[in-house]
Amino acid sequence: MTDMPGAGSGSLYFDERRQFLMVEGVIARDIPNFPLLPRPKRANKTATSTSVAPRAAAFDSLGGNTTLGVHVSEVPPGGEKQGHRHLDEATFYIISGRGWSELRQGEDVPDQRVDWQAGDIVTIPSNAWHKHYNADPDRPALQIAFKNTRWLRKLFHSREFVYANDFRFPERYNDEPDYWTRREEGNYGKVKTNYIHDVVRDAVTPDADAGEGIGMTRYSMGGHRTIDHALVEIAVGGHLRPHTPLAEEAILVLQGTGRTTLSLADGQTSTFEWKAGDLIAPPFGVTRAHEQTGDEPVRYWWVKNNFMERALGIKGNLSLDGALPARWPGVIEADRAAFEAARDAIEAGLLAIPGGRDE
Ligand SMILES: [Fe+2]
Repeated sequence: MTDMPGAGSGSLYFDERRQFLMVEGVIARDIPNFPLLPRPKRANKTATSTSVAPRAAAFDSLGGNTTLGVHVSEVPPGGEKQGHRHLDEATFYIISGRGWSELRQGEDVPDQRVDWQAGDIVTIPSNAWHKHYNADPDRPALQIAFKNTRWLRKLFHSREFVYANDFRFPERYNDEPDYWTRREEGNYGKVKTNYIHDVVRDAVTPDADAGEGIGMTRYSMGGHRTIDHALVEIAVGGHLRPHTPLAEEAILVLQGTGRTTLSLADGQTSTFEWKAGDLIAPPFGVTRAHEQTGDEPVRYWWVKNNFMERALGIKGNLSLDGALPARWPGVIEADRAAFEAARDAIEAGLLAIPGGRDE
């Protein structure tokens, strides 16, 4: 890797293959306003141009994660993203803007449209055709996607298998006319649905096992087998008990302010504050506890890549407590300024990156 401006702390690297500038740390602040970087190898269409490079930021390395993908990407004003399909299980939160997505499983069936706006959740089932459109001619729409792509890429070691696979999963999605509108009770008390309007205001159920003042709704979406989602509330004065999940996770804070403490059995601890708009990925194997601060309840969107629990047949939220080596973080806060400086230098053509880290 060449020297990147401000990257002396080793908090940034460039993933050459995927054309992502990767930021490291445990918390990336103010995601709605995080700097984005064009991905020239990807083409987009807008009302006036067919060659605008889409802009994105990847948070795949947050928390040292290796199996959970988290991407912020932009649909340009009045534009669309190229239609495509992939084996990835994907779920989006709409950060800002408004637009719609089209989805279909079959080759010769009409697209099924779902309209969305800031605050909504949209899921994309594995290998269904899909396309995103921005309904606003003046402003970009921002989406944050949570995916299991990196795990699939590691597991099969074949880009073609993940992105050019003809297999279909009709049990996950079969062009049902009510796909975007149904909401029903699923297994293990989960809500089974594929679209959630204004998720921060969805109902939660008290969960006394999780801590003090915790409410939670877990969702089964898109027929996903490993990407697992929940809306979590921490009431004023409440906290989520220390826990060590058997999965990589990411938390997008939707409302309120709070504090996270990371700890290891040997007594090592680190504490940091957060607020609505922040993205947090506590490192795998490290015990984490979250507490509410301030005067309004916390609400966050919680995503895990649960493939280990799934493979091991564990139905609940297992806590490991020191059974596996922990990834103690070298960096807590993602270096936004270094990211932005590197982005500017790349855009200005001042910084060439001959080689990136190979995942
Ligand atoms: Fe996609």
